[in-house]
Amino acid sequence: MNHDKITELRQRYLGPSLRFSYTEPLHIVKGKGQYLFSTDGQRYLDCVNNIQHVGHCHPKVVEAAKNQYEKLNTNTRYLDETIICYARDIIETMPDGLDICFFTNSGSEANDLALRIARNSAKNNETIVLDGAYHGNLSSLIEISPYKHNGPGGNGTPDHVHVIPMPDSFRGKFRGEGCTENYVQEVQKKINKIKMRSDTGFTFIFESLMGCGGQLIAPEGFFHKTTALVESSFGLCIADEVQIGFGRMGSHFWGFDSECIVPDIVTLGKSMGNGHPLSAVITTRELAEQFNNGMEYFNSFGGNPVSCAVGQAVMDVIKDEELQANASKVGAYLLDELESLHASHGIIGDIRGRGLFIGIELVKNSNLEPARKEAHIIVNQMKEKRVLLSTDGPDHNVIKIKPPMVFNKENADKLVNKLNETLSEL
Ligand SMILES: Cc1ncc(COP(=O)(O)O)c(C=O)c1O
Repeated sequence: MNHDKITELRQRYLGPSLRFSYTEPLHIVKGKGQYLFSTDGQRYLDCVNNIQHVGHCHPKVVEAAKNQYEKLNTNTRYLDETIICYARDIIETMPDGLDICFFTNSGSEANDLALRIARNSAKNNETIVLDGAYHGNLSSLIEISPYKHNGPGGNGTPDHVHVIPMPDSFRGKFRGEGCTENYVQEVQKKINKIKMRSDTGFTFIFESLMGCGGQLIAPEGFFHKTTALVESSFGLCIADEVQIGFGRMGSHFWGFDSECIVPDIVTLGKSMGNGHPLSAVITTRELAEQFNNGMEYFNSFGGNPVSCAVGQAVMDVIKDEELQANASKVGAYLLDELESLHASHGIIGDIRGRGLFIGIELVKNSNLEPARKEAHIIVNQMKEKRVLLSTDGPDHNVIKIKPPMVFNKENADKLVNKLNETLSEL
């Protein structure tokens, strides 16, 4: 089918609230490693699909899926070696105490289950979240995602949800070095409010590096101090690793590790299955036992042997191809090269990142007016130069870079050169 025919059928059959990535949509027919190929045979450098973590269509992942599909696909109600070995391998990457795994099928499902586990123990649904956060598309998660419920079509923040300002030292409520304590105080205020309502527990859910929040790194020590405060106030911490986990940080396998914290619950997704729907909740035995309150937890597809074989192959490839070390090395190189653009392009307000998770915040002037329109134009022009990026952040003025982890130095050079060209043409 040609471009126009697919567009027509899409309009006829798919929900109108779905969006395209670019003004002129791409028709991609093949993927390999960090590259995508369009119908006309053009090769695009993919700098944004973090889901295809070990590279598009990695042969070992494809083979694992095929082999397991040919053998068996059931569910977690049977004894199965593939499922249990994979759960063990995931848990071995976690800090001591995070010993129990529940499998689910999407980041949203994982976060919903994490909330159920936490709220079951807290005995209430009071939840602290970061402004600008996105945790998924289920009703329970739109409620705790200011990115959505305070955006177009949203119904605002529900009464049981307590939003703290985004810990953003560049344009946030408190700026510059030394603002950590101010943000921690905001958390304290919300805890005080919750404690006035009831003396039971509560939940704090966060991404250690915010994705939809604009590839944001919190001021030093913020998460360490905040999670300590939450724990001493009998709250539970959920670390959402859906975007940032599996070695993307380079220095650490998990984002929360890079902030030196140990949460009570961790949620995984996206990259876990390299595009196959697979996610998980990891928690303590104590919380899992409390959740075992008589109601069976069953998930038709969560943890099926095919998904687990795929997940295992992803873990094996990360290790065998040393992709965490690659994220560290190439990410550091890319950050350095991007920094060199900073001085020559006034529109660049801030460049930040860790490993292969990088954001470039664009501003119009010294008042930090968000350059939203310009960010949109740049991403579309970069697409014309066969480099795929996207934008995010509350003002949609942050260019996101989160490529498949096989991204190399040559790719980094191409990205920086094309970006330099595009910024100069703006
Ligand atoms: C941090 C975070 N959590 C959860 C989700 C939801 O994951 P999914 O789209 O797989 O349901 C997303 C999706 O973008 C996300 O960025």
